[in-house]
Amino acid sequence: MPDPAIPGIQACVFDAYGTLFDVHSAAAKCRTDLGDKADTLSDIWRQKQLQYTWLRSLMGTHADFWQVTGDALDFALAAVGLDDQAMRQRLMDLYLRLDAYPEVPAMLARLKAGGIATAILSNGAPAMLDAAVESAGLADSLDQVLSVEDVGIFKPDPRVYQLAVDRLGVAPREICFQSSNAWDAHAASHFGFRVVWVNRFGQPAERIPGTPDRQLGDLASLPDLVGVT
Ligand code: LAC
Repeated sequence: MPDPAIPGIQACVFDAYGTLFDVHSAAAKCRTDLGDKADTLSDIWRQKQLQYTWLRSLMGTHADFWQVTGDALDFALAAVGLDDQAMRQRLMDLYLRLDAYPEVPAMLARLKAGGIATAILSNGAPAMLDAAVESAGLADSLDQVLSVEDVGIFKPDPRVYQLAVDRLGVAPREICFQSSNAWDAHAASHFGFRVVWVNRFGQPAERIPGTPDRQLGDLASLPDLVGVT
């Protein structure tokens, strides 16, 4: 039996990086040159990128996600023993046109056809998000692309989740939020959204406040979960 639909959803709001877009697709496209360092580099890059968002928020030293992404890449390159400015540039350019996960375009189109509002809510700086959305051909399927830059602090600060409520004009319980980042899923649930944790990487549950309502391996069946027939 499929899970019963989550009732009363007016809008589906998506985390961007790791959820709609494959952050590891950048290093994967440089695998010929990176060799056996590609996966380690990509993992460290992502982990540091997220750590720097949390650290900057706690330190009160916000910088946008483009800078944080570049700083994290510099750390990752050093960690794997690479000093290669051309590779740095190439990876940053690729970050602007990450692959969308294969099920994403049809899933978004189905939500829109079913009358559900769609939005991104991301740490990404506006120009980064616009580039990724355009490159993946998702612009027509998204009603809004919301960036933390409008509140000047990163997830999981509650002001970020409130931004979606304010911009979409619907109650938190009418928003279904999707993230593959378990910490983001928990925080969004704690804020008051209905939440689907897209557990793409088979991770164990986090031990922090908040309880995602559902767990999926990818986004293909999301329209069914929010009652789109
Ligand atoms: C984002 C990060 C958390 O897109 O993946 O907000």
